[in-house]
Amino acid sequence: MDTASTRTPRSPVTVRTAAVWAVLRRELERSAGRSLTVLDVGGGTGGFAVPLAEAGHSVTVVDASPDALAALTRRAADAGVADRVRAVQGDGDALAGLVAPASADLILCHAVLEVVDDPAEVVAAIATALRPGGALSLLVAGRAAAVLGRAVNGHLGAASALIDDPDGRAGNRDTLRRRYDAETASALLGGAGLTIEEIHGVRVLADLVPAAVVEADPEAMLNLELALSARPPFRDIASQLHLFARRP
Ligand SMILES: C[S@@+](CC[C@H](N)C(=O)[O-])C[C@H]1O[C@@H](n2cnc3c(N)ncnc32)[C@H](O)[C@@H]1O
Repeated sequence: MDTASTRTPRSPVTVRTAAVWAVLRRELERSAGRSLTVLDVGGGTGGFAVPLAEAGHSVTVVDASPDALAALTRRAADAGVADRVRAVQGDGDALAGLVAPASADLILCHAVLEVVDDPAEVVAAIATALRPGGALSLLVAGRAAAVLGRAVNGHLGAASALIDDPDGRAGNRDTLRRRYDAETASALLGGAGLTIEEIHGVRVLADLVPAAVVEADPEAMLNLELALSARPPFRDIASQLHLFARRP
């Protein structure tokens, strides 16, 4: 255990990630300088894993894509944290066989449940991999934002399909297999025995307003996003929903 070398992650503050990092930073501060064992399921090229390793934590990234893992390995080496980042090629659906029970202090599962075969099984495996008291950072695509996005772009049929489809899909050509509401995502985590502590919306407005508006004053946009992220009904129309949960 490392008690002296952890620090606040030097994460880029953008509208895509600010609300998530705000929650993660609070969790890292709770651990008071202890080096955490972190698992990033579907962590891709390491957008979260590398800053967490730079902050002194040990991060294992499980991802199905060898290309993403190669990019992760390069990024970790460039940042000088190759010794704290482990890349494991594997399917999220097979997570139970890849990680030891009760071994992780913190698990990230960002933008992955939308594409796996069996989200309930993945969440059950995550709950098993968390040590008691360990935390999950879950980021999933929001159904309401997808309805609004299609409607404002004139795709009214796709918007209707999204409302009626039990999984929140906009037909067979949709690249995602499912989307969530705060209620359905909460039920998924609750079903695995996890206690939800916080729910935020990520990109409440950023995908709805014209890009020129975001570019004209990124700081104002960021502040507005952060101000809206925890407040229903704004939270509930965000492009992504961030749930922070803990294993009792
Ligand atoms: C949208 S990216 C998200 C990456 C990262 N979590 C983030 O938020 O920046 C989805 C990632 O999940 C990975 N992935 C897709 N299907 C997967 C599966 N069944 N098991 C594990 N990883 C998967 C992809 O290779 C990709 O890296």
